[in-house]
Formats: sequence, C-alpha cells, structure tokens
Amino acid sequence: MKRTQEMTSVQPDWENFLPRPISDKIPFFSRDGRVYDCLFAQQFSRDLLAHLFRTADALREVTQKKGGADHVSSLLSDKRAMLYFAQPSTRTFMSFLNACHILGMKTSEIRDTSTSSEVKGETPEDTVRTFSSYVDMIIMRHPTPGFVEKTAWLMNRTGRPVPVVNGGSGKDQHPTQALLDTYTLYRSFNGELDNKHIVMVGDLKRGRTVRSLSYLMKNYKNISLSFVSPKEFRMEADILDFLKRHGIPYQETEDFAGVMRTADAIYMTRIQDEHDKAGESKGVDYSPFYFRQEHLKQIKKTCVILHPLPRRHEIEVSVDDDPRAVFWRQERNGMWARAALMAHIFGVDEKIA
Ligand code: NCD
Repeated sequence: MKRTQEMTSVQPDWENFLPRPISDKIPFFSRDGRVYDCLFAQQFSRDLLAHLFRTADALREVTQKKGGADHVSSLLSDKRAMLYFAQPSTRTFMSFLNACHILGMKTSEIRDTSTSSEVKGETPEDTVRTFSSYVDMIIMRHPTPGFVEKTAWLMNRTGRPVPVVNGGSGKDQHPTQALLDTYTLYRSFNGELDNKHIVMVGDLKRGRTVRSLSYLMKNYKNISLSFVSPKEFRMEADILDFLKRHGIPYQETEDFAGVMRTADAIYMTRIQDEHDKAGESKGVDYSPFYFRQEHLKQIKKTCVILHPLPRRHEIEVSVDDDPRAVFWRQERNGMWARAALMAHIFGVDEKIA
C-alpha cells in the first residue's frame, strides 16, 4: 500500500485541505483502488456496496462452521486495531470490536481520554499519533466534526500511516452506520435497492446517521426521500443541496401519517439532545414523530422499520414483534458489514467466499 509520489507532493496544509469538496479528497484516502481511510459515506460507490454486501453475506455463511470461522479469523491475525472512542458508545464499539475479532485482529481501546496525556497538555493529534505506533488500524469515534478526517490526513503524511475508520464524527458523518443501514435494506428487499421510497424521521438536523444514509442513496435509481421532523430539526441545507445536485427527489414534512403509507422503509431516530446549546430540545414536542403500534396497520406489508439505536420512545416496544421491525437484525448486520469493510481495507476480502 505505497502512496505515489504525486499524491504526497500535492497535498496542501490541513487548513487548505479541509474545505475542499469531498470528491477531491477521496483519492487521498484511497489506495490501490480500495478505500484506505473510511471517513465519508460518499466513498461508497454502488459497485463497492454490492461487493461489501456479498462479502458480509459470505462472512456470515462461512463462519457458521468452525473450520470456516477459523479460516476467517486467520485472515487478519497479524493485525492490531485500536478503538479510540472519545464519545459515549456501547453498541458501535461492540460492533466494531466483534467485527475485528471475527477477522482475528487483536484490539486495544481508549474510551476515556481524561486518563491519557492529553491532560498533561499534549495535543489530541500527538496523542493519536503516539497510539498509532502500536497498531495497524484506528477505529475512531469523536465528538468534534472533522477530527477523524484530520487524524486520517495526519497519519497519511507520516512515514507509518495506518488506515482510519470513522465510527461517528460529531454531527457530520457516520459512514459505517449508513453501510449497515443499506446492507439491512439490501437483505430486507432481496438485493433490490432501486425504486424505493425511504422515509427518515426525527432529529434530522443533528443526526449523523440520516446524513450519511442520504449520501448513500445517490447510488440507487429512482429513490425518493421523505424527511419527517419537527421544524426545529429539519435536514440541513448541505444534504438537501446534495440531493438536488444528484437529482434525488425529496420532500420535507411534519405529516408522518401521510407519508408512511407509501414508504418502503421508515428510518426512525431519536432526538439528539446531547448537541443542545441551551436545552432547546425540551421545547419541542417530539411525540408526533413516534412510530406506534397503530401505525402497523397503515404501512405496506413489505415496508421495513429501521433505527440506528439507541431508542428512547420513538418506536413503541410492542412494534418489535412485527416482522417488519428490522432494527435488531440491523444491529447484527452491522457487525458483518463492518467486518466486510475491514477485510476490504486490508485486501483480504477475496479470500472469504
Ligand atoms: C447513532 C450515533 O451514535 O450517531 N448510534 C449508533 O451509532 N448506534 C445514533 C444515535 O446515537 O442516536
């Protein structure tokens, strides 16, 4: 995985690099035709998604037998990953951790940066670079938008780069969540992802999962999106501009009952009040944006209900028993999809089937 001279020599400083369009940045985070640092949902093409979904399917199949599981767990047994999670996480953390273990990677973790030398005045960038010395991959969740990207950018300029995977950065992106969400749609719709009406519900302004998922939808044909949210938490203009540029029709509405009838998938999210500046979420009535038992009668027989979890009250618990509620399967799909991605990054995906 050698960088070409051309790529390294044209890279500007971080301040000049950061504002560039994502499409210009992607080559810097790719190697040998593969994703190297997984930072943005825009890095996933239709072909790559199809390949990762097939790889994830193969992984779950092959590992059902001990011989297959042993083979898969030898694929990356020479690699070590660091999970650097500077923001609350249990499910994404566990999902990545177990994905690493499926492939035989050894793991170490940082979950509380207050115990590191950052408290002695070290910059977060130096801290991450120090930790990177021990590992072959960094999986990172960070509250500051852009920090994961900056880490990847920084690592790529060192003599010993390691791939960086974004496990959720601030309010901006959560690409592996979008990957597993789309993998769940793929499994729910027997591989047919075109011609779908996807309804996203909740705090669309501050939810990074719905942002990344919107980006991924450009890979499919004849998609329409409905964004259902309180007016305070509408989808941000940058995503709406992206959809306009790619000719993806969308509507914004508060009428959840109205749009759910034609939905092929309903993607529920919780209110993201950890991003409140002055308790603004408290003034918002979120209850019109709940999915309730009675709604099951109104949606299509083939419609699926997703949620990145954790859930609060936005889906009534009794809904879980309906076969169209796929959020628990979605959770498990995440582990396989992440394992497929890591196998791709390290170039061992062809050894799985
Ligand atoms: C999401 C996140 O962290 O953005 N959760 C997750 O990754 N499982 C969604 C959320 O916290 O609401």
